[in-house]
Amino acid sequence: MNQALKSWKQEIDQCDSIKMVEDMRIRLLGKSGEITQMLKSLGSLDPEARREKGAEINHLKDEISQHLEIKRTTLSAQELTERLAKETLDVTLPTRPEAFGTLHPLTRTVEEITSYFAQFGFSVAVGNDIEDEEHNFTALNMSEHHPARQDHDTFYLNAPQMILRTHTSPVQIRTMKTTQPPIRILSLGRVYRCDFDATHTPMFHQVEGLVVDKGIHMGHLKSCITNFLKHFFNVDDLPMRLRPSFFPFTEPSAEVDIGCSREGGALKIGPGKDWLEIMGCGMVHPKVLAYCGVDPDIYQGFAFGMGYDRLSMLKYGLPDIRPLFEGDIRWSKHYGFSPFHSTGA
Ligand code: PHE
Repeated sequence: MNQALKSWKQEIDQCDSIKMVEDMRIRLLGKSGEITQMLKSLGSLDPEARREKGAEINHLKDEISQHLEIKRTTLSAQELTERLAKETLDVTLPTRPEAFGTLHPLTRTVEEITSYFAQFGFSVAVGNDIEDEEHNFTALNMSEHHPARQDHDTFYLNAPQMILRTHTSPVQIRTMKTTQPPIRILSLGRVYRCDFDATHTPMFHQVEGLVVDKGIHMGHLKSCITNFLKHFFNVDDLPMRLRPSFFPFTEPSAEVDIGCSREGGALKIGPGKDWLEIMGCGMVHPKVLAYCGVDPDIYQGFAFGMGYDRLSMLKYGLPDIRPLFEGDIRWSKHYGFSPFHSTGA
């Protein structure tokens, strides 16, 4: 029996594919395999001899199974190494001309905004598209029957209290509830309102900024957004004005306009006769701070929010908002960006 074990082991050692190992397993341990047959033949022996021979054959069976398993593992590791060596991809090869891909203008805009604010220590906070009314409204100082809720054209979900967020401001709440000031965050993403025409889509994008620290005032807010807008539109003498406005979650609140001209029918951002409304902002309402467990006697904050579909359209001369979300490859080729171009922040 030892002789048999030795020669089977040798045969296994000589297998040079997983298929050969498997064939060997079937030959020895399969239903009518040689070792299986040996076990079957035990029935004809007397009990004493059966016990002795049985132990021997079982030992043989274990040895062979183990040997097969080791061989199989070694071979599969070898096969993988060979495959990895064979299937290398030369990433320096030029792309095929028909595989020309572009970055969506919104992707580009997100990169521009986040890299600009990252320089000043803002990190990106991620929120949820599906929100509850508590975070989207109540915590933002819009109680259940507050008229401002009506302005939002909310999509209600088929679950109590659940909605598609109508703005990125709930991320302010989620951040302040879980983070100790000082806070500097930017939150970007999809928001939803039931509206559809050339300048509105039911889903659009907002970016929200929030700063909470000691001694924060309107001056900080104003310089923060002035510098950002000048940088974003690449216009050094960009006129800007803050117009008093109202948001339940900021006090005081303002709407930000930037200068533009419409001479010859073309809209141009920069010094001119006209104004364009671009974002909402204000000092975080003390009630909102307190709701989140931030002491308004110690900390103050400012926040701003704007739709960056609009920013993107203005910067890159996109006439209509709807194609942004239609996924037409011809549009992407025309308005998209090469992924190899730096955002220059
Ligand atoms: N959430 C407001 C909106 O969607 C914008 C805003 C954000 C205003 C932050 C003030 C401060 O209209």
